[in-house]
Amino acid sequence: MTEAPSKHGLARNTANYGDKDFALYLRRSFAKSMGYSQAMLDRPVVGLVDTGSDYNNCHRAVPELIEAVKRGVLAAGGLPLAFPTVSLCEPSLFPTSMHYRNLAALDTEAMLTAQPMDSAVLIGGCDKTVPAQLMAAASADVPAVQLVTGPMLATPFQGERLSACTDCRRYWAAYRAGTVTGERIAEIEGRLATTAGTCGVMGTASTMACLAEALGMIPLGHGSIPAVHADRLRAAEEAGALAVRLIAQPIRPSQIITAHSVENALRVLLALGGSTNALIHLTAIAGRVGVRVDLRRLNELSDSTPVLVDLKPTGAGYMEDFHAAGGMPALLWELRDLLHPDPIDVTGASLGERLAEPAFVDRRFIRARGEPVSPVGGIVSLFGSLAPRGAILKRSAATPGLFEIEARAVVFDGLEDMAARIDDPGLDVTEDDILVLKNAGPLTPAGMPEAGYLPIPSRLARAGVKDMVRMSDCRMSGTAFGTIVLHITPEAAAGGPLGLVESGDRIRLSVQERSLDLLVPAEEVARRRALWTPPVKPKRGWDRLVADQVLQADEGCDLAVLRAGG
Ligand code: FES
Repeated sequence: MTEAPSKHGLARNTANYGDKDFALYLRRSFAKSMGYSQAMLDRPVVGLVDTGSDYNNCHRAVPELIEAVKRGVLAAGGLPLAFPTVSLCEPSLFPTSMHYRNLAALDTEAMLTAQPMDSAVLIGGCDKTVPAQLMAAASADVPAVQLVTGPMLATPFQGERLSACTDCRRYWAAYRAGTVTGERIAEIEGRLATTAGTCGVMGTASTMACLAEALGMIPLGHGSIPAVHADRLRAAEEAGALAVRLIAQPIRPSQIITAHSVENALRVLLALGGSTNALIHLTAIAGRVGVRVDLRRLNELSDSTPVLVDLKPTGAGYMEDFHAAGGMPALLWELRDLLHPDPIDVTGASLGERLAEPAFVDRRFIRARGEPVSPVGGIVSLFGSLAPRGAILKRSAATPGLFEIEARAVVFDGLEDMAARIDDPGLDVTEDDILVLKNAGPLTPAGMPEAGYLPIPSRLARAGVKDMVRMSDCRMSGTAFGTIVLHITPEAAAGGPLGLVESGDRIRLSVQERSLDLLVPAEEVARRRALWTPPVKPKRGWDRLVADQVLQADEGCDLAVLRAGG
């Protein structure tokens, strides 16, 4: 029998038959049934995480990417072996893709660990896939390169451009307000997402691709290449070659994802005016290596980090504009004095070594430090009697006139209650009220959906109201906008004060003071608490595991047993 190099390639972690030589002999004989030569089977193995799925439009190009990664691996002397994992497409999953992010992370970690591979290329793109893969890679600590599917292209349409999903929401809001007809909304439905790739704005998928680049898990400049561009395939080929290089001089995710690289990623999140969801995901990824993301530290960073990127949902540009404008290399150069220079990336180079002054930057989309979109960061955290462990507000997508407000709460007990009453013409609500949604956090069957963008009650929308203060324990799509307080922690279902709010209560929001308070006397709060009962847990399956294990937003909504140290 020809021996593979010890503990490399297929010889890694052989199955337990009580005889390692037999296990390798058996593994090879089965591998040979797939037509591999002995020379191929002796090569180091690069595992390719395949998240292609007929349910996942954002991953439509994954088969083509896999072929390109394989070229890179083979040319560099490795054996590429692709394997499927859970694939999560944002609009395709009930109750929400967030409910399954940890399942994808668990699946990916298990397969990275159980199967023989010396390194891996993680191929993902849609909102929850990249976070899940980074969480998995951090825990498995297998040398790995992240490859994203890349953003879709915007579509020219009657004198404007359309792309998922800020334009989806803009037109839907207009449809609800009665200014867009049913016929036109049906036509627009077919023009919003017309190419392969992830949503074309600075939503969660794009934000996570940028953060993966900031962390160092994606080579600089590769995160924002459009999905259908030939450079995307070249990036895939390079990812394959890089994964082989990582084998000789292993650089593990735990060396890349560090307290300093996480803080750099937080700075980038703020400068992007990026998705609020990314904060939860970055917290979960960091938690896998024992790094804590502190929401109070976020406020310090937010006050000293300007928003420099001008894309939808807050600006006018799309991801293809960001990439053509210079992408992450240009943004990181602009932020260089605010960043830790020491973190290394998948190439082994420190951030300081990787940064270089770009030859060209399109200032319409990536502003200079002296002319920021906003002098302070896009996200702030809030604390107070309504959010003892924090809540967040994307101030870059909010209405400044609503930042300091004390108002009456109009409360919905859950998603069903909201759906049943929000458009009721008899609903007692004015534009000066605060809409409150509770029981939609990670512990609930709703699974912390992107429902924080509560619709403006149609009676008010038709009267021209564009924004109101809305708050909840759930999330908001990275493509949405409005004065929306999210991730209130602890959530209502965990016994947080949010669960005790009733319609008519007064709530005070102060962005300046970073506070969120329920203005109800303590004795009344205590009376309501004595009557509160926790929700009934699901009986079995994944839902039960989530109900038993899921952590709150300030801990990234990971499962407790999956965090570093369990
Ligand atoms: Fe996949 Fe938006 S639905 S990135």
